[in-house]
Amino acid sequence: MPIQHYLQFTDLTADEYAWIFARAAAIKAKFKAYEKYHPLVDRTLAMIFEKASTRTRVSFEAGMYQLGGSVVHLTTGDTQLGRAEPIEDTARVISRMVDLVMIRTYEQEKIERFAAHSRVPVINGLTNEFHPCQILADIFTFLEHRGQGEEGRPDLQRLAGKVVAWVGDGNNMANTWLQAAELLGFTVHLSTPSGYEVDQSVAGVRSSASYRVFKDPHEACRGADLVTTDVWTSMGYEAENEARRQAFADWCVDTGMMALAKPDALFMHCLPAHRGEEVQAEVIDGPQSVVWDEAENRMHVQKALMEYLLLGRVDG
Ligand code: CP
Ligand code: NVA
Repeated sequence: MPIQHYLQFTDLTADEYAWIFARAAAIKAKFKAYEKYHPLVDRTLAMIFEKASTRTRVSFEAGMYQLGGSVVHLTTGDTQLGRAEPIEDTARVISRMVDLVMIRTYEQEKIERFAAHSRVPVINGLTNEFHPCQILADIFTFLEHRGQGEEGRPDLQRLAGKVVAWVGDGNNMANTWLQAAELLGFTVHLSTPSGYEVDQSVAGVRSSASYRVFKDPHEACRGADLVTTDVWTSMGYEAENEARRQAFADWCVDTGMMALAKPDALFMHCLPAHRGEEVQAEVIDGPQSVVWDEAENRMHVQKALMEYLLLGRVDG
């Protein structure tokens, strides 16, 4: 059996997402009821961080402990990765000792090389190109607020016809939104400054049918069900900070943009946020913002993802 990795959003099918969202809802309900749920006793997750993190680290670490497992936390600086040990050798060694690996790194190609030499499933905790765990949480959060079917369960069918407005950089988050839209059947309105567009071949989508490009970020937000953005400068691109500040000045999600979206539109941001740059404080701290639910849901969806990758479709 080939190992099921989670390196990009397209690594799972719509049917598998429906399963994982249902499990995330069930696992979240147990957490809220202080009910013990330990399906991953004696399992170990290794987390490798080559970039900084707050949410990804805490959500994976707390989530794994809550499922009864344990965690090893590694960074470039405190491992031989920082002293040029090949990633292939690191993968061979670590994957003989743990059951699951989460990696946050630079090029997608690096995580793919790790996965190709790993005996255990590998999860993408963010690369330059993709951030699938974040979009998993974002869609789950959207469904919690706007897409509940029978008995309050997340219902993927409710995504049909929905519009997500992406205002800002054509980055790892934007690429992953495009993959999700193509797979799950909704539309993304993209507005990026000139020179920072999404590259369809990098995003890895088959066609342009599930997204539309807008020069004006206001037009991208018109009629949207969800407005979302991200930092102007992602990790690893700090040298471009000043140029980006100038280029992105008109790509700040403000109350004017939110007013053009649907009256019940939500606002999301993967965080960390810079109020006054990519988003106005009135928006991120306003009534349409669900950013704290979005951050919390990282943990619940990732618990469901880890359960699925290690145990398959279990009830409980
Ligand atoms: N959204 C997100 O991945 O946050 P961290 O960088 O804090 O992990
Ligand atoms: N696009 C951002 C997301 C941070 C969670 C980055 O890559 O830095």
